[in-house]
Amino acid sequence: MEKKIIQLLFICYIFHELIIVSSALQVGFYAKKCRAAESIVQQEVQRSFSTDRSITAALLRMYFHDCFVRGCDASILIDSKNTRNKQSEKDAGPNQSVRGYEVIDRIKSRVESACPSTVSCADIIALATCDSVALAGGPKYNIPTGRRDGLISNPSEVNLPGPSLTVEEALKIFTNKGFSLNDMVTLLGAHTVGITHCSLIQDRISRFDGSMDSNLFTRLSKTCAARNNDPSVFLDQSTSFIVDNEFYKQIRLKKGLLKIDQQLASDRSSAGIVKNFSINPKAFQQAFASALIKLGNTQVLEGKFGEIRKNCRAFNPPAQQKKRQPRKKSFRPKNPPPRKGSKFSIPFIAP
Ligand code: HEM
Repeated sequence: MEKKIIQLLFICYIFHELIIVSSALQVGFYAKKCRAAESIVQQEVQRSFSTDRSITAALLRMYFHDCFVRGCDASILIDSKNTRNKQSEKDAGPNQSVRGYEVIDRIKSRVESACPSTVSCADIIALATCDSVALAGGPKYNIPTGRRDGLISNPSEVNLPGPSLTVEEALKIFTNKGFSLNDMVTLLGAHTVGITHCSLIQDRISRFDGSMDSNLFTRLSKTCAARNNDPSVFLDQSTSFIVDNEFYKQIRLKKGLLKIDQQLASDRSSAGIVKNFSINPKAFQQAFASALIKLGNTQVLEGKFGEIRKNCRAFNPPAQQKKRQPRKKSFRPKNPPPRKGSKFSIPFIAP
């Protein structure tokens, strides 16, 4: 009898855990818990944007680099000095030039004053990115929240795609995370804003091979020859601060900078998607909104997992870490469902 009760309790426990793990993020998660949260994020992003429009690029990249490593759990925000072995994701090569941490700090500090230990750093990244995209002329979408912050940040887990991969190689990394070719081409549209350092396009400008517009080649060769340490150049040659479909037009004119960007326009698998976005701005805006929401669903910690950090750069002291990291499980970020009230309510476009 006693054995049966224990078995029953165990089944109830597993069922309870499953419900918690599979509970979905939701738009307006903080509406009751912390009414001011979303407006604080909006105000701080607006404030940053008004002095430096490049904050959109910074946040978009931070969001991607966070979500693709251990899921959207703010593991990218942990400072090395705040880990046991003095190393965090920030130390990994691809993260060295990620920026925008101060904006997240400012938001977190205000949100903590308003509602202590309530709003996760992972949600702050997602909300801030969403607001910054809208400010830069991109789609206005509602981003679901309810993520919790992770308890691990390890540079050896940072396996992000490099700029010189082929479309096929990059796609393998995206597919492993549950994204399709269409998702990948759409998300790479984030290169409609921001910069790259010359060192990352050396392979494209050291020798003219016809894959780049010749005027752009000459200009970049000169700019990048400057002896100051590793100059930076805009990824989108036309509207460098605006989230629009210009990136796709540019790569069709051989004006892509990163090898992966340029290949999207010529690779047989992706050229059609690029062409469609280049002539259909609305299709890009809708797909981009859906893809950013889907990115934000990657491997999230919810319910009783992870924690709500008090300081985004450090894990909470062990005594406060009651919640555990779930075991690594396979995951598929869900395509966002159509939601009422959002400007774009179409489902994600399948390839
Ligand atoms: C195959 C996938 C991708 C590759 C290989 C890639 C590679 C790169 C590289 C090499 C840079 C320049 C970094 C530097 O010089 O400091 C860059 C910048 C950037 N990436 Fe990506 N990226 C990819 C996907 C994405 C995605 C999915 C997003 C967002 C959704 C994104 C957003 C950005 C932004 C906004 C910048 C400019 C950052 C800034 O101005 O600080 N990238 N990317």
